[in-house]
Amino acid sequence: MSSVRHFLSVTDLAPHEVREVIARGRALKAGERSQALAGKSIAILFEKPSLRTKLSFEVGINRLGGHPIYFSEDEIGLGIREPVQDVARVMSRMADAVIIRTFSHALIEEFASAATIPVVNALTDGEHPCQTLADLQTIEECRGSLNDVKVAYIGDGNNVAASLALGLASTGGRLTIASPPGYELPEEISADAGEINAKSGGSLKQIVDPIEAVRDADIVYTDVWTSMGQEAERQVRLAAFEGYQVNPELLDHAPDGVRFMHDLPAHPGEEISDGMLTDPRSIVFDQAENRLHAQAGLMHFLFSGA
Ligand code: NVA
Repeated sequence: MSSVRHFLSVTDLAPHEVREVIARGRALKAGERSQALAGKSIAILFEKPSLRTKLSFEVGINRLGGHPIYFSEDEIGLGIREPVQDVARVMSRMADAVIIRTFSHALIEEFASAATIPVVNALTDGEHPCQTLADLQTIEECRGSLNDVKVAYIGDGNNVAASLALGLASTGGRLTIASPPGYELPEEISADAGEINAKSGGSLKQIVDPIEAVRDADIVYTDVWTSMGQEAERQVRLAAFEGYQVNPELLDHAPDGVRFMHDLPAHPGEEISDGMLTDPRSIVFDQAENRLHAQAGLMHFLFSGA
């Protein structure tokens, strides 16, 4: 049996490995030099648009001495031009790892089942685990520790919320999610987070009222109401999420010192008010920068075996 490690979900790293990756990300950010990917070719296969993820992976691979090879959606036609598992088998014979952004989480699982090189999830409809590593690094930097952090996530129980719930569970954080009925986290994610929390001492609460969610929060986090692939539902979602905007008035209900996070891209006028990204309480651009460092930490861990 192959011992290759994939990163499709936050749960593919043990809690101590999550902390190890973040520590490496922080060290690399602080100037540690590494050629951990020297001589390695990393395939990047994206079926959805991307700014931060593409840039951060390509820059990160270059800094670690590796070579990124980018494929856009129509170049490969995963599962259309060629069966998913065949693409995985071919890539495994030439590349050293593959980073995939796609829609269906089942597709990346199918790809990984046939791959003999590490596969990294750079966003599926189910999870965004690389974002969570950057989020945890950002929270640790800004608070000095991940211990006991209280996060309020306002909005859609989507891919970003799912990975955040699993990541905070791993590190023993306390997460309250405020969503309109029908837009909560998927049940299996809540159940998985619950099991992890039982060991880590973290907690996950799902409520409806955003003001109640932020009352004792160290961090207020939101993401778009309409994710990529859900464009046809946009009008229904705009109506459902009315009252869930993160704006300075909502943050005023949180304790002094609260910080605001968003994985970007943002839709001002929808999940945030205009100017929220540059509000003095926002750490959104530190969070965006940390995609580079946290993913470098992940690749150092996963691709180099170091
Ligand atoms: N929930 C968003 C995240 C984008 C980085 C989406 O899936 O479109």
